Amino acid sequence: MLFQPPISPSYSKLSSKQIAERIAEHKRNFGDRLVILGHHYQQDDVLEFADFNGDSLKLSQIAANQNAAEFVVFCGVHFMAESADILTDDTVKVILPDLSAGCSMADMAALDQLEDAWAFLTESAGETFVPITYVNSAASIKAFCGEHGGACCTSSNAAMVLEWAFKQGEKVIFLPDQHLGRNTAYAMGIPLDEMVVYDPKEPDSGLTAEQAKAARVILWKGHCSVHQLFNEAQCDAIRANEPDRKILVHPECSWEVVQKAHLSGSTEFIINTIRDAPAGSKWAIGTEVHLVNRLTKTHTDKDVRSLATIQCLCTTMYRISPTQLLWSLDELADGRVTNQIRVTPDIKHWANVALDRMLSNVASAPKAISQLVD
Ligand code: 13P
Ligand code: SF4
Repeated sequence: MLFQPPISPSYSKLSSKQIAERIAEHKRNFGDRLVILGHHYQQDDVLEFADFNGDSLKLSQIAANQNAAEFVVFCGVHFMAESADILTDDTVKVILPDLSAGCSMADMAALDQLEDAWAFLTESAGETFVPITYVNSAASIKAFCGEHGGACCTSSNAAMVLEWAFKQGEKVIFLPDQHLGRNTAYAMGIPLDEMVVYDPKEPDSGLTAEQAKAARVILWKGHCSVHQLFNEAQCDAIRANEPDRKILVHPECSWEVVQKAHLSGSTEFIINTIRDAPAGSKWAIGTEVHLVNRLTKTHTDKDVRSLATIQCLCTTMYRISPTQLLWSLDELADGRVTNQIRVTPDIKHWANVALDRMLSNVASAPKAISQLVD
């Protein structure tokens, strides 16, 4: 994890109103030189300053079009800011307002682990694998996939990318989220017994060469600590007690939860589904709490609540507070480019190949990855 130095204690004396006014003033002063991007899991009082908001796919596409800006301030997590740096020209400086805004799932795949896995898999089953990485991964992992004939995907387009991958080779290694990989491959018709899990922490005691050879999909043993808080019992309780409430979850939830949900898709898909749902409809949502609360507040004609009774908060997304955003804009206004996210040119080249294969092979409309009939 990168180290975020503490900011001046004077920031803690500012009221929310003062912070908001100063951010708005910076935006006016910077004009077109500054673009602020915000992911759907950000706090409302951060997102109100975003010029664009979206899921990972939409934000990647928007970032790729920001070459006229001098600064892109990314209100999201580290891998998203890295993707923005990869997709923009060298003239654009990408800033992450708090360097400790990482992603625990992205941290579950390191380059040396992937190199070990690749050596084991290709030794076991030959050069038949196509590496596909969820964008929730480090730039070095994306670069490895680009260099080895693979691509990136997001939760909006994982099925389209997997279809593309199976035209390139016989087998896929999908990382770092085993759940998105399993849910997507299963929805495409690949049975569970053709998928195996590779544990990067215990490479010697897990998967055998025979199992790797027999499988079509190798799933990296990684997960999202937020989405693993949703479970089957929550779905069972809703289905038993409130049969008219629909369950809508993010595909980072486990396969068991996705099977018991009515619908599953990316954050953008979740937003669009609730927006288009009829007044009076009831929903239980399995994703990060800030997005669920926003949906509840926005759609007062519908009954929208979290699938869980506990708070499913992404603590790293939460690090981007209005105060941190103001501090990073103050730094820029004072001529200091602080917290710039820079991907080295060699990694950038191959990571760009992986991102480009994704962006040029997929449609942008957020799709459900599974749709169950009751
Ligand atoms: P989306 O692409 O659906 O926004 O997901 C990003 C993410 O990190 C979900 O945990
Ligand atoms: Fe990472 Fe999960 Fe947070 Fe998304 S919700 S940024 S996958 S830890």
